[in-house]
Amino acid sequence: MGYQDLYERSMREPESFWAEAAQLIDWDRPWERVLDASNPPFYRWFSGGMLNTCYNAVDRHVISGRGEQPAIIYDSPVTGAKRVIRYAELLEQVARCAGALAALGVEKGDRVIIYMPMVPETIVAMLGCARIGAIHSVVFGGFSARELATRIEDARPKVVVAGSCGIEPNRIVQYKPLLDAAIDLTEYKPEHCIILQRPQDPGDLTRGRDLSWSEVMAGAEPLGCVSVAATDPLYILYTSGTTGQPKGVVRDNGGHAVAMAWSMAKVYGVAPGEVYWAASDVGWVVGHSYIVYAPLLTGCTTVLYEGKPVGTPDAGAFWRVIQEHGVSVLFTAPTAFRAIKREDPNGEHLERYDLGGLRALFLAGERCDPDTLGWAERMLGVPVIDHWWQTETGWAIASNCLGIEQLPVKPGSPTRAVPGYDVQVLGEDGGPVQRGDIGRIMIRLPLPPGCLPTLWGNDQRFVQSYLSAQPGYYLTGDAGYMDEDGYLFVMSRIDDIINVAGHRLSTGGMEAVLASHPDVAECAVIGVTDQVKGEVPLGLVVLKSGVQRDRTAIGSELVALVRDQIGPVAAFKTVVVVPRLPKTRSGKILRGTMKAIADGKDFRLPATIDDPAILDEIATALSTTGAGKAP
Ligand code: COA
Ligand code: AMP
Repeated sequence: MGYQDLYERSMREPESFWAEAAQLIDWDRPWERVLDASNPPFYRWFSGGMLNTCYNAVDRHVISGRGEQPAIIYDSPVTGAKRVIRYAELLEQVARCAGALAALGVEKGDRVIIYMPMVPETIVAMLGCARIGAIHSVVFGGFSARELATRIEDARPKVVVAGSCGIEPNRIVQYKPLLDAAIDLTEYKPEHCIILQRPQDPGDLTRGRDLSWSEVMAGAEPLGCVSVAATDPLYILYTSGTTGQPKGVVRDNGGHAVAMAWSMAKVYGVAPGEVYWAASDVGWVVGHSYIVYAPLLTGCTTVLYEGKPVGTPDAGAFWRVIQEHGVSVLFTAPTAFRAIKREDPNGEHLERYDLGGLRALFLAGERCDPDTLGWAERMLGVPVIDHWWQTETGWAIASNCLGIEQLPVKPGSPTRAVPGYDVQVLGEDGGPVQRGDIGRIMIRLPLPPGCLPTLWGNDQRFVQSYLSAQPGYYLTGDAGYMDEDGYLFVMSRIDDIINVAGHRLSTGGMEAVLASHPDVAECAVIGVTDQVKGEVPLGLVVLKSGVQRDRTAIGSELVALVRDQIGPVAAFKTVVVVPRLPKTRSGKILRGTMKAIADGKDFRLPATIDDPAILDEIATALSTTGAGKAP
C-alpha cells in the first residue's frame, strides 16, 4: 500500500490500523479496547492490554535466536573505549539491574531518576526499570544541579542512578557533586543513589545513601519481567515549557512500544538485524526513542556514540562510525551536519571511508535549512530526510516515510503527515487557513499511540498547555503552512521556546535567572541566528537606576549565573546592556522585533510600539555583539 492509501486508512479506521501495528509487539494479555475514548480529552491506547517493554526489547530477541547479535555497540572516542554488548549479555545485565533496584525497594510505579552519560549502563538502567514496571526519568547531563533538583522534586524518585562524570572533549564534567548539590536543594530526598564510578573521575560516596553500581550489580539476583498495563507509564521525560518549570512528559508502555516498532519499519524503513545509529544523547527524546527503545524493540543493533561530530578527533568521526559498524541508517540533528560542513566543506574526510552500507540520513530536532540538506545529499549520495517531531509526541509527526513509499523531497519541508497524525494548520479564528498561509500547526485528537497521554501528576497543565487553544486539537506550539501537495513547512515556534543545537530551551526560564541578579531591573532573552547551532540565546538587560558597576563584569556574572542555574547546554554567552526595552503600549516586550534586528531581517514597525526611537538604540547595542549570521 502506498503512502496516500495508508494515511487515509489510518484516518478512516484508526483502531484496525493500530491493532494491526500492535502485532509487532508480544502481549501478555490482549487489549480490551484499541482506543479508549471514554474520557475525552484524555485518550488511552490498548487499554486492558498487558505487556512488558523490556521483554519486548530484550528477552524475546534472545528467545528467537538473536542472543549472539550485538544489541549495543558502544563507541566512545572521548575515552577511547569500544564495546559490543550482545542481546544475551544485555539480558543478563538488565535482569541483574532489575534485581538490584528491587533489592533497594523499587517497585512497580516507583520512579528512578537516571543522570548518566552516554554509556551502556544508562540503557541497562532504563531497561532495568522497565523490567520491574518502575518509571524512569533520564536527566540530560548538560543540565545544572538546580534543573536536576527540579526534576527530583517533581518525580520523587526512590532511587537515583548516576554516573560519577561525563566526558566532554574539553573537560570532565563531574556529575557526582552536581547530584549532591541537587539533593541538598530538594525537600524530597531519594533513599539511595547508585553511582557508576568511571575511572576518569570517581566520585565520593555518601555513606548510607550512595552505593557503587559495580557492587550492587555483582550482588544482585537477576529478575524476570513484571507484566504492566499498556496504559501504565514507562517513563517521564522533562522538557522545556514556557516557564522555568519543565513539563514532565509521560510515555505509556503499550502505545509507545507499538509506535516505536511501527515507526522503525515504516518511517525509517529499517528491518530487524540492521545497524541503526541515532547520534544524539540518551537524555533527549531522540535518544529515548531511537537510541534505546525503537531499535531494541525491533531487534536491531543500536550504536551508542559518546563523542561529537567534530573534534573527536575530526570532522570524519561520523563517517568512521558508519563504516566501522556497518550503519544502515543515521539519524541526527542538522546542527551536527552544519558543524561538519563548517570544518570540512568539501567533504575531504569522506574520501577516507566507505559508506556503501548507508541507505539514508534522517534529520530532526530543529528546522533543517535547505543549504544543509543539499550539502548532506551531495556528500552522502543517499536520501536525506527532514522529519518533524517533539518530545511530547515521541516520534515523527511529519516525515517522508521510507518504509512505506519515498515521496519527492521538498527542501525546507519535513514532507507530509505520518499515518496516524491528523495535522491541520489553523488560524486565529480556529478555522483552517488557506493552503500556503501560515497558521498554528495543530493535531486533531486523538493523538496516535506513543504520544503523551498527560503530564506527570498534572492533568490540568496538560489540558491547559496543549488542549485548550482549540477544543478537539493538540497545540504543537509550532507555526507553519501546508502547500497544495500536503507538504508541511514548520517555520517557527509560537511561544518563547528556542532551539539551540537541536536542544530545546525556554527563554522565559533564562529571563527568570537574569532577573534574579540584584543589578537587573528588566530583561529579555531572544534566540538569535547562529551558523552552527541554528539559534543561540542572547540576553538584553536594563540595569537598575544608580548601578554604576562595570558592565562587562555584570555581563560575565549573568553568563555564569545562567550556566550555573540552567546548565552549559543553554550556550548562553552574550549579554547586552541596553537603556530600555522596546514595548507595546500595553507593556509587552517586543522580542520578535529585537530578534529581527539582531538577525538583520526586515520587520514591520509594530503599530502599538510605545517609543520607536528605542529600536535604534537596540540596533546599536546589538551591532557590538556580531549576532545574527544566517546558517
Ligand atoms: N554533559 C555535560 N555537559 C554537556 C553535555 C553533557 N552531556 N553535553 C553538552 N554539554 C556542554 C558542552 O560541553 C558545552 O559546554 P561549553 O560551553 O563548556 O563548551 C555546552 O554544553 C554546549 O554543548 P553543545 O550543544 O553540545 O555544543 P558544542 O559547542 O559542544 O557542540 C555541536 C556543538 C553542534 C557539535 C553539538 O551540539 C552536537 O553534536 N550536536 C548534535 C546534535 C544533537 O545531539 N542534538 C540533540 C537532539 S537530536
Ligand atoms: P524537542 O521536544 O526537543 O524534540 O523539540 C521539538 C521542537 O523542535 C518542535 O516543536 C519544533 O519547534 C522543533 N523541530 C523539531 N524537528 C523539526 C523539524 N524537522 N523542522 C522544524 N522544526 C523542528
